[in-house]
Amino acid sequence: MTLRSVIEGTGSALPRRRVDNAELATMVDTSDEWIVERTGIRTRYIAGEGETTASLAVEAARNALDAAGVAPAEVDLIILATATPDQTFPASATIVQAALGINDCVAFDVAAVCSGFLYALTVADNMLRGGGAKTALVIGAETMSRILDWEDRTTCVLFGDGAGAVVLRAQETDDHDGRGILASKLHADGRHNGLLNVDGGPSTTGTVGKVRMKGQDVFRHAVVNLAQVMREVLELASIDAADVNWVVPHQANARILDATARKLGLDPARVVVTVDRHANTSAASVPLALDTAVRDGRIEQGDLVVLEAMGGGFTWGASVLRF
Ligand code: ACO
Repeated sequence: MTLRSVIEGTGSALPRRRVDNAELATMVDTSDEWIVERTGIRTRYIAGEGETTASLAVEAARNALDAAGVAPAEVDLIILATATPDQTFPASATIVQAALGINDCVAFDVAAVCSGFLYALTVADNMLRGGGAKTALVIGAETMSRILDWEDRTTCVLFGDGAGAVVLRAQETDDHDGRGILASKLHADGRHNGLLNVDGGPSTTGTVGKVRMKGQDVFRHAVVNLAQVMREVLELASIDAADVNWVVPHQANARILDATARKLGLDPARVVVTVDRHANTSAASVPLALDTAVRDGRIEQGDLVVLEAMGGGFTWGASVLRF
């Protein structure tokens, strides 16, 4: 028998306010045409008063628990991936824990920016398979709008807010084709942290700071690194790319999604795309896209699914699982 981490339910949450490209064009020197052509983004959701990373995370977590038919009291691990926590400390995961009425569990945040959900999922998978927990909530949640420079058209048009969550459960299986996470691979290369970062922080400026990015350099690295890590993870799981049912990528830019799929010879119809609706929601983007494709019936139990992401650091990673 092998212990595997199985996704039992998914959930997501979006802020109330939807902002289209035309509205952004009234704020900065941009156009719907430029944004759609260069990024594929048409709309994004922006958090308003009372909406925070933790409040979106709680809503996404509740939806995932409902879908899984799991009671909050059964959760013994919460990992929340975010680059935009409600406060510098405590971890937003503990705010989620309190809101769900869970009095005792392991709860912490993971900071790996856009790859945060892949990092959190991999840590949870290792804890579950190691016996450190049985039922985990793994959440990606962001309010990127709060750290954008709304006068910088090269970054402010790219991001949105939201949250996605999965309920992950340790299950014994003796079936080679059984459900669960089959392999994961993470990377980081801190030499590139100047290409995408926030120009502030508690220990430097004492301020929160704003997102700064050299977009073209990020783009080049993203396509190479994402194709490489997907190959690695498929090899680890001894799976042929042709057998993959769905790729759920980090939703940064439609051109990155197309270029990465082409490099791996993947059918673009098998790539879940939500960047047009949600823009780049950083750590939330993979679980948000996963939940979208599960709820609209595309991803079904038993499908082979690859999740991948890359973000600031650089950090990047992928997981392959049987849903
Ligand atoms: N509206 C109109 N014009 C713009 C805008 C805008 N919002 N932003 C930039 N421009 C202008 C630039 O000023 C430039 O004008 P110039 O030629 O007069 O100097 C021109 O458009 C071209 O700019 P580039 O930066 O060369 O445009 P590019 O085709 O590279 O697209 C983009 C920029 C969309 C940022 C692209 O590089 C990209 O997507 N990079 C990946 C970055 C990313 O997705 N980061 C997210 C986090 S990391 C991750 O998730 C993988």
